[in-house]
Amino acid sequence: MAIQWYPGHMHKAQKEMKEIIHKVDLIIEVIDARIPYSSSNPVIAGFSDYRGLSRPMIKVMTKVDLADPLLTQQWCQHFDRQNDMKALPVNALHAGEVKNITQLARSLAPARTSKGEHVRAMVMGIPNVGKSTIINGLTGRKIAKVGNEPAVTKHQQRIVLPEGVILFDTPGILWPKIENDHSSYRLAVSGAIKDTAMDHDEVAFYLIDYLVEHYPEELKKKYQLDKLYPETIDTIEAIGRFRKCLRSRGSIDLDKVSKIIIHDYRTASLGRITLETPSMIEKELLVVDEKIRLREEKKAARKSRFNKNK
Ligand code: G4P
Repeated sequence: MAIQWYPGHMHKAQKEMKEIIHKVDLIIEVIDARIPYSSSNPVIAGFSDYRGLSRPMIKVMTKVDLADPLLTQQWCQHFDRQNDMKALPVNALHAGEVKNITQLARSLAPARTSKGEHVRAMVMGIPNVGKSTIINGLTGRKIAKVGNEPAVTKHQQRIVLPEGVILFDTPGILWPKIENDHSSYRLAVSGAIKDTAMDHDEVAFYLIDYLVEHYPEELKKKYQLDKLYPETIDTIEAIGRFRKCLRSRGSIDLDKVSKIIIHDYRTASLGRITLETPSMIEKELLVVDEKIRLREEKKAARKSRFNKNK
């Protein structure tokens, strides 16, 4: 799916982040527990070892109240197995849970805490994962702008917390190129990509295919379907009939039903559903590697043809 989404400020934000990385002891990356891989920024992963300075990272997994609890557990174990990485699942709407972040941050920077100094942490995350909600929960006041349109937080800010942590907040950035097609769809389904930058029908088709395969009972129950059909369009039409998304001549209003399905997913009224697992990602990355390899091969062949013709 093609996404028209890369506002200029994101490019600038990346540059700014690179500038402050050497000032911090650790990175707090806020990700969406429903799409832990797809909401992790590969650019940020590169930052954690920027200029050879390795940085511990806390993966704060928000929206656990909307995610599949068993899969959240699987993802936590997956992140905890990585070097210098700790997962922290939270419902960011509960300030009590959010407060655990400062404690964990301090435990990951013993060199600072033993000297009685503040721990410095850079806070990052793609749009709409709940970064502002987390910061508001940590400070106890509305310090960063919270909104449902991606990329609302636009300026870096330095926030001193009484628990002995200084946060360097950064704008929500999304990477310039999403190599994994599945990730593009999952970002769209979750709301990380602006609604105006996506085709609702296409995203709803992707979501229904996923639900049919992984959460068929939830899907049938929600829309009172006796059965699921081999063709996605038939299932969507059945949902459209049930939700009365009809045009004047009785045909299904595809756009309307698609928006309803996506909304039902985002509000968890379909159930607590996670869109990816570590083993799925492992397989998808093999496909991505192959895609990149073929692209590079083609590029090299073009270059050599060009050089021969000179
Ligand atoms: P951002 O700064 O990363 O862009 O995200 P932000 O905090 O603005 O959060 C985006 C939306 O996600 C907000 O909803 C927020 O309430 C919701 N949210 C954040 N964390 C959680 C969580 O752990 N669980 C649930 N259920 N929701 C979460 P909104 O509808 O856009 O705004 P609001 O009306 O709730 O304020």
